Amino acid sequence: AVAPPCAMVIFGAGGDLTKRLVAPALYNLVTAKRLPDGFRLVGVDHGNRTVDDWRKTLTDMMNEFVTKGGGEFEADSIDQTAWRWLTDRMSYLQGDFEDPQTYSRLKEHLAGLDKTAGTAGNHLFYLAVAPRFFSIVVDALGTAGMVTEEGGQWRRVVIEKPFGHDLPSAKALNAAILKTLQEHQVYRMDHFLGKETVQNIMALRFANGLFEPLWNRQHIDHVQITAAETVGVERRGKFYEQTGAMRDMVPNHMFQLLSLIGMEPPISFDAEAVRDKKAEVIQAIRPVRWPMRDAVRGQYDGGTVLGKPVNPYRREPDVAPDSNTETYIAWKLQIDNWRWAGVPFYLRTGKYLKRRWTEVAIRFHQAPYTLFRGTHVEKMNPNWMILRIQPDEGIALQFAAKRPGPTVTLGNVSMDFAYKTYFASAPSTGYETLIYDCMIGDATLFQRADNIEAGWRAVQPILDFWASNPGKGLATYAAGSDGPAAADELLERAGRDWRPLE
Ligand code: BG6
Repeated sequence: AVAPPCAMVIFGAGGDLTKRLVAPALYNLVTAKRLPDGFRLVGVDHGNRTVDDWRKTLTDMMNEFVTKGGGEFEADSIDQTAWRWLTDRMSYLQGDFEDPQTYSRLKEHLAGLDKTAGTAGNHLFYLAVAPRFFSIVVDALGTAGMVTEEGGQWRRVVIEKPFGHDLPSAKALNAAILKTLQEHQVYRMDHFLGKETVQNIMALRFANGLFEPLWNRQHIDHVQITAAETVGVERRGKFYEQTGAMRDMVPNHMFQLLSLIGMEPPISFDAEAVRDKKAEVIQAIRPVRWPMRDAVRGQYDGGTVLGKPVNPYRREPDVAPDSNTETYIAWKLQIDNWRWAGVPFYLRTGKYLKRRWTEVAIRFHQAPYTLFRGTHVEKMNPNWMILRIQPDEGIALQFAAKRPGPTVTLGNVSMDFAYKTYFASAPSTGYETLIYDCMIGDATLFQRADNIEAGWRAVQPILDFWASNPGKGLATYAAGSDGPAAADELLERAGRDWRPLE
């Protein structure tokens, strides 16, 4: 269905996020015919530019995506009619985010659009700004009286990550925002939830009768969740020094995967029902205790990634030469509830690893009794279910089969579902789903205040331990490798291995 009429206001219109992700996502929504006639896009930023300048920046970026490829948006060409449809609806307002005048002018501008452009008084404020501006913008919108919902009109605010940098700051930010907004108006974004393969975890589990009976401690030995990247910190040294792999990936993206895999069936697909069940998983994570043997941090050294020599983390721009910031984390965690008691979940994520690969791997118990003994039988391999989140999106189920021939020899085979062979899917950045959901008022794929806080609460003991023991146990790994050896030991202690990253 087409989204309801609305004005979407992007704070941080001149920023990277708007160019790389928001604009392509809106374009995809236009080509999918999801945006209504009464849609308008208002850019707000402190830069002195005209709407034509803004249009040109976005158009150049779109063309660059087409000619150079790369990035989240892929297309062979731009549909000019669709792009015009969007750019014709743009306006730009220069203003400082801290200046009350910006908001009075914006308010007037929006009132004008509501009258003349049919935006119906529905306003979506998208905060593509540095985190320190989150509560400043929300406060100012409140003071200007721009977020009160009246007469069926809605006012919503999308907030990007990072949402706080630890539990106290996340709580403070929630409290600050909820002074002005009601929870149902806040859309805290985690772009992993925009990924088809991530959303599909719920379909796999709850639209099929086959898997759910096996989805518990009786049948599952352990779970491995991997988000391996081949990028380094690039030009984000300043941000990353304050952040590290744990904050950047775990309480948000990795926990999305964890909670979708671990959650109980919700009573419906209502936002609240789903988010309640997801929150319970995170709340059930066993608090980590000293001496933190179950969490391994690592930092990349020099090495070769995808055939290119790269520098050690400590020599990256804006990184301290003695930095203890982790670029890799592996964590064995336990979920203390009836379904998962005794089933370890191993998480790992890192920069500059061998391969870009995100997956959830579920390892089932071995057959209870090995019939196939003897010299003619190869090692029995366990059953795995692999959810390939990206790239090469799909799901595989691995099991043993008899090799054809006169002797009983077993081999491993795989039943494989690949998205690209089943669905000729439209190019997607994942962001379009989230933006569209916000327009139709479906918050299922967004983070509620308590989900965010539960995530930080679970990682906080590890962050505290690292902060008070700088550098302790920080392992190095060669860029382009599988990660530090200490991460392997985490599994070897229990006679297990990571799935290889190749
Ligand atoms: C972002 C992190 O939130 O997610 C980045 O800040 C990371 O450091 C990125 O690279 C990973 O997202 P994706 O979609 O590329 O897997």
